Amino acid sequence: MARTRVVIDTDPGVDDAVAILLALASPELEVLALTTVAGNSDLEKTTLNARRLVELSQRFDVVVAAGCAEAIAGAVRYEGEGDVHGIDGLGDLQWDSPNVPLHDEHAVELLFRLISEGPLTIVAIGPLTNLGVLLERYPDCAALVERVVIMGGASFEGNVSPAAEFNIWADPEAAQMVFAASWPITLMPLDLTHQASLNDDDLAYFSGLNTEVGRRVADMLEPYARFHEVWYQQREVFMHDAMAVYELLDASAITKQGVEVSVETSGTYSRGATWIDRRHQHANSRTQVGVSVDNATFVELLRTRLSTYR
Ligand code: RIB
Ligand code: CA
Repeated sequence: MARTRVVIDTDPGVDDAVAILLALASPELEVLALTTVAGNSDLEKTTLNARRLVELSQRFDVVVAAGCAEAIAGAVRYEGEGDVHGIDGLGDLQWDSPNVPLHDEHAVELLFRLISEGPLTIVAIGPLTNLGVLLERYPDCAALVERVVIMGGASFEGNVSPAAEFNIWADPEAAQMVFAASWPITLMPLDLTHQASLNDDDLAYFSGLNTEVGRRVADMLEPYARFHEVWYQQREVFMHDAMAVYELLDASAITKQGVEVSVETSGTYSRGATWIDRRHQHANSRTQVGVSVDNATFVELLRTRLSTYR
C-alpha cells in the first residue's frame, strides 16, 4: 500500500487530539510531524499538547515543531478560550511532562524542507497562520504540495461568530493567502463537520477499552460534551478535525463538490467568513468542499482504529 506522506498542522485542542490519534493509528498515512500553531490555546500550550499526544500514541518517530504564536495581522484572543477545550487546551487532565523533545526547526522551515523532499499532504486543523507564512517565505512551494486538507470555514452559520468559523476567523489574512495559492485544497467546513459526532455510548466504549488512549480520549471528551450541551443543547461532540483525516483514509466516504472559496478580511461583522461559491459547480476547480458524510461509518472506523492502541 502506498502510504500518504503527511504533516498535521494543529492547535490541540480536544478534537485535534482525536484526529491526530486517528491519523497515527492509520497505516494508510505516514505522519512525519505535528506542526503547532496558536488557536484553541496559546502556542506554548498547543505545542505541549502535541508533545503529550505523541507520547500518548507512543509514536516517537513523529516530530513536534512549534510554529507561529500569533496571526499574521497580530494576536487575536477568543474570549471563550478555555470554555471549549479547557484551560490547558486538552480537557484539563493530569499529565506527566512528556518525554518528547521539541524539534529544533521552526514549523514553517520544517514544512518547507519536507515539501522539498517529496510529495506531501498537509492536514490543516487549526488557524492557517503557519501555511500563510510558508507562502510568504516560499511563494513557489504551493506547486510542490500534493494536497492541503483543511478543517475550516462554513457555508452557512459560523461558530465563533454568526458569520465565521474559528480556524478561519483566527487568521483571515493567512486563510485568504492559502485559498489563493495554487495547491489543491479539500475543505471540510462546519456544515460537513456537524454531521460527524461522538455520543455518550462512544465515550463509554473508549473508556471500556481499558487502555491509556481509550481512557484519555473519554476523559478529554467529557468537558467537550458539557460545552456542547450548553452551546448546542446536546452532548454529541462534533468531530471537526477528524474529518480532515478521514478524507485521507477513504476518499469515497465524504461526498464533495468543486467550489471557489473567498475569505472576508474586512467586514465589521463578517471578518473571517468563508464565501463558498457552489453556483457554477466548479467541476475542474482545484478546491473541493466536503458535502456529506455517514456518521455511523465514520464512528465505526474511529472505534476500530483507536482500539489498536495498547
Ligand atoms: O471550528 C472548529 C475548529 O476550531 C476545530 O479545528 C477546533 O479544534 C477549533 O480549532
Ligand atoms: Ca483544531
